[in-house]
Amino acid sequence: MSELANKRLVVGMTGGIACYKIGELVRRLIEQGTTVDVVMTEAATRFITPVTMQALSGRPVYVDQWDARMPNNMAHINLTRGADAVLVAPASTDFLAKLAHGMADDLLTTLCVARACPLLVVPAMNREMWANPATQRNAAQLRADGITLLGPAEGDQACGEVGSGRMLEPHEILEELVAHFQPKLLAGKRVLVTAGPTSEPIDPVRVLTNVSSGKMGYAIARAAREAGADVTLVSGPTALATPRGVRRIDVTTARDMLEAVTSNVSAAEVFIAVAAVADWRVKEASARKLKKTEDGPPQLEFVQNPDILATVAGLPQPPYCVGFAAETEDLGRHAAEKRARKRIPLLVGNLAQEALGHDDTTLVLYDDAGEHPLARQPKLAAARQLIAEISRRVLGSGPAGAQGTSAPAGSHAGS
Ligand code: CTP
Repeated sequence: MSELANKRLVVGMTGGIACYKIGELVRRLIEQGTTVDVVMTEAATRFITPVTMQALSGRPVYVDQWDARMPNNMAHINLTRGADAVLVAPASTDFLAKLAHGMADDLLTTLCVARACPLLVVPAMNREMWANPATQRNAAQLRADGITLLGPAEGDQACGEVGSGRMLEPHEILEELVAHFQPKLLAGKRVLVTAGPTSEPIDPVRVLTNVSSGKMGYAIARAAREAGADVTLVSGPTALATPRGVRRIDVTTARDMLEAVTSNVSAAEVFIAVAAVADWRVKEASARKLKKTEDGPPQLEFVQNPDILATVAGLPQPPYCVGFAAETEDLGRHAAEKRARKRIPLLVGNLAQEALGHDDTTLVLYDDAGEHPLARQPKLAAARQLIAEISRRVLGSGPAGAQGTSAPAGSHAGS
């Protein structure tokens, strides 16, 4: 991940046991080339020392409002000027209360009030403290003030109780930071994505499926959410983690996937079908495990599965529909034929042997204007570029002709 390279962050720490995880967070930020100024409250220094944070950030750590190291003695102003964001993690109950009331009685609270950049806050506290009406009132006020609250998560707490109030893990905070800095090209739009393979039963222990990993669909769901969309991901069986902030609906068969899509499509403005849907299923799956017999292998009868994308594209008021096609040869011909057959405005093609199971991909976009190859790149980068292209087509916004998409109609991908 290099999205946070060259960013400047102020990381504020308040008193809480989750302070120990911020050492790991700062280390990972530094590895990515982020400049990190750590500011700690007095209470935070009870949990982890400024020396530790200085060693990890490679920069002086500030605790005291009256710290004389700044030439003008104005650390509360200087530290955020030129910063891309302030991140406060862990954020205690007390800190949220002070922030909600604009209080400024130590360096960190004063700096937050005096900042001229976005503020992201990661609460961490006991579940009763988080559930307390005063804390909830303060959290609502902070959101209304334009401050981003990340989490809290649910689960085991250091105090031995279980509930909502855990700080997000460092890798989750990093994912949220990366998302924060992506352009909000689809803000407020609802996007429905299908991903992964489907799995069609033959008998209780055997299935018909394919080798789709789901990586491309998950990357697209993540990129759409990073762009500010409200994202629902209908996923066949995969081993992937749900991208943060994405609502995931797990399905198994093509018919389950069609049902989940049909029940969620009416709210969607964009539908992106990335799933490798099994084209056929066994007409009648056996209720019992099929056994070997002397008559040889079983004769399976197949029937066609519904075409989910074509069904959505055929609705009276369809969302903007985007299809995917992984082909082993003649990509341009198959893609054009599929786009016409499914009556969709945009089809994204790639060569199966270059994409399936790989972390990189080469996408080619097919629309009314012709064929637009994108550069070979990691799937997440390709997903972000595709989301920018979709937003440009849906809203007329986004970068005008992202790099590599200005090929004349009918030109070839050359991949
Ligand atoms: N698709 C779908 N439902 C299906 C089959 C495909 O929604 N039953 C979608 C895929 O998610 C993809 C696009 O249609 O966005 C193209 O899928 P593909 O399998 O390549 O197309 P098919 O129509 O199945 O054509 P073929 O398998 O013959 O290449």
